[in-house]
Amino acid sequence: MSSNSATTAAPIDFGRYIYDDKKQGVFSVNREIFNTPELYDLEMEYIFEANWVFLCHESQVPNPHDFYTTHMGRQPVVVTRDKEGELNAFINACSHKGSKLCLTRQGNTKFHTCTYHGWVFDSQGNSISVKDRDDASYSEAFAAQDFNLKKVPKLAEYRGWIFGSLEADVVPLDEHLGDMRLFIDLLVDQSEEGMELIPGMSSYTFNGNWKMQIENCLDGYHLNVAHKGFLEITNQRVKRLGDKYTGPDIEAMFNVDLKTGSFGWDQGHALFFTENPAPEYRPLWPERENLAKRIGEARTDWMIRFGRNFTIFPNVQCTDNAVIGQFRVLRPLAHNKTEMHIYCWVPKGESAAARQQRLRTYEDFFDIAGTGTPDDVAAYMNCQDGAEGRLAKWQLGYGRGQTAMTNGANDLADELGVKPATSTAGPLTMSDETLFHASYRAWVEQMQAGQARALKKINGAKTDKAGN
Ligand code: FES
Ligand SMILES: [Fe+2]
Repeated sequence: MSSNSATTAAPIDFGRYIYDDKKQGVFSVNREIFNTPELYDLEMEYIFEANWVFLCHESQVPNPHDFYTTHMGRQPVVVTRDKEGELNAFINACSHKGSKLCLTRQGNTKFHTCTYHGWVFDSQGNSISVKDRDDASYSEAFAAQDFNLKKVPKLAEYRGWIFGSLEADVVPLDEHLGDMRLFIDLLVDQSEEGMELIPGMSSYTFNGNWKMQIENCLDGYHLNVAHKGFLEITNQRVKRLGDKYTGPDIEAMFNVDLKTGSFGWDQGHALFFTENPAPEYRPLWPERENLAKRIGEARTDWMIRFGRNFTIFPNVQCTDNAVIGQFRVLRPLAHNKTEMHIYCWVPKGESAAARQQRLRTYEDFFDIAGTGTPDDVAAYMNCQDGAEGRLAKWQLGYGRGQTAMTNGANDLADELGVKPATSTAGPLTMSDETLFHASYRAWVEQMQAGQARALKKINGAKTDKAGN
């Protein structure tokens, strides 16, 4: 398989990477999906550079002329707010010789000056100055070309979450997000002022495939094994502090009958929820009556009583649970290397005590120097090494929860008013794995669709060349 096999080789059947027998209730993933270097470029072309991906949150570009740099697949992108406050997104490469234009993560500037030959662009991406243009002796035809920055074809936001697509022919963002809009609402509505990402982030890479991160965010099964160290620390805290301890008591969670479950959607999004054994310790607890008046009892209940972890396929994940909130943006760098940006998200304008509790619990578990994230990174590296054991092709990690799964909505989905493709409900120890199916099914669908689109373009180009 070449790095651009859609253009040079026979089409690939991407369905070969998963085994999906709905009738028998068997789902598996072939380890080649993690250990094939050539799949990386195809995933970038067909998924990350051809569908909606998360770019940034509005709190990262709040003012006119703010900018935030990121990537869409392999392509450097800058999101800007122009002088009218409108959002724009451009390929972050100078139109002269392609030097990266904005070199810092974020900032505020009316004009972006290229550090190579000094061309200048404004926050709407317009070319403002071409150094020594009058003496350039450009041909008329050359000078008539578009010197502006290349615009990202699709840009849209939902409640401050900003997404873009490098492919213009995509469904509207609302359709892509579908029911995930409700779960974004459950974060944003925690304050009348909305949510924000706390300035600053941890950035790290791990030597593992990006799909391991997609799975792990929703993997309840690893909690009391991979994070055993965290459990031991919390046990000590419970013993030492007694009633004064306000953090999560993970061990206690396994000893009470908690409602848990999951949903998976056709777009590849998935969500895992767990009833919180001690909702009164959540920073939002004192606000519950006000919340119920503002957003209703049912949503308040889901906001406070249930912790939620979710993935909006393919690159953004959020947790809002007993260990408080984390926001993750992932970027694949190779088949075996992934970059993560992680943030603490918070409701705007909360009390100092609530903010302090959120920050401390975020640092405690989620931050890269915390007690949790290094365990997950170690697990990804071990899985990536293990994936080289090519003789054992198929994984057994997608079967838990199969007989508790409903195709379509279950009672809890009905209660929320969402329409997932699959729903499960069961005890915490069931640790459902069927919710991983959604992203792999979407992976196959998007890879097949991307390949078909690429082949169509090539065939169209051949037809044009032949003059037919
Ligand atoms: S590459 Fe930007 S001005 Fe030359
Ligand atoms: Fe974990």
